[in-house]
Amino acid sequence: MKLIHITDTHLVEPGRRLYGLDPKARLDAAIADINRHHADAELAVVTGDLTHWGEVGAYRSFLHTMNALCLPYVVLVGNHDRRIACLDVLPAAPRDGHGFVQGWRDTRRGRLLFFDTLDETSHAGQMCERRLAWAGRALADAPTDRPIYLFMHHPPFEIGVHMMDRIALAERSAFAELIKLHRTRIRHLFFGHVHRPISGSWMGIPFSTLRGTNHQVWFDLSPDAPHLTSHEPPAYAVVLIADETVVVHNHDYLDSSPRFPFSMPGVAERTFALGPPPEWQAR
Ligand SMILES: [Fe+2]
Repeated sequence: MKLIHITDTHLVEPGRRLYGLDPKARLDAAIADINRHHADAELAVVTGDLTHWGEVGAYRSFLHTMNALCLPYVVLVGNHDRRIACLDVLPAAPRDGHGFVQGWRDTRRGRLLFFDTLDETSHAGQMCERRLAWAGRALADAPTDRPIYLFMHHPPFEIGVHMMDRIALAERSAFAELIKLHRTRIRHLFFGHVHRPISGSWMGIPFSTLRGTNHQVWFDLSPDAPHLTSHEPPAYAVVLIADETVVVHNHDYLDSSPRFPFSMPGVAERTFALGPPPEWQAR
């Protein structure tokens, strides 16, 4: 099964730029690339910060772009989103009985669980009592013979980038206690928020996240590092799920660096490799 993971698209009102970049144009390019190369994917999941300021016009702009995607997709909310505007404009937003943007989807590889970690008063993540209770039921009700995949905006642990750790999930202890009860069935955790390509494991659960499609967060682990954004390249992830593996490819879809074969017929391999780069192929 192939999935697409997109995150932190940060759309603004049409025609505006954000930190010097055009978020809609960059999302348009991601969608075109996915349609061209991954039309066989089963689903795309956008893990929040769909817009930068939660404006209705920005959600409409997001919807306009996503309407071009040739796959079904699900959206989650992040700290830059506004729940009601998101739910009003985007049919791809799941909704639970309390109005939170969360739900699940069963696939032939198991259950995908989507959590709402938005706190509209803070950039930190939140899992209030009602959402923790919902998550507990969703995990307990999942078929016991099928794996589970988690999707959320905020990481439920610290990643070492100081300024992002200050706005991670606030209730991470309570969330960890809940997840511990089910961790043997959870194959992977996908999140956004940090605008960085990171992978590892948390309580034995593999995780991955990736750059957003607009701006990024600069990599600096020093405790007094300033909170800097950057124009590092945007990415989306292609997730390949099989019986024994979950493989996550991060793809810098706007990369335009030279690409060419490792060898050329009639030229000694060493001579070719040590020579000047050949004219790179038009894509
Ligand atoms: Fe973000």
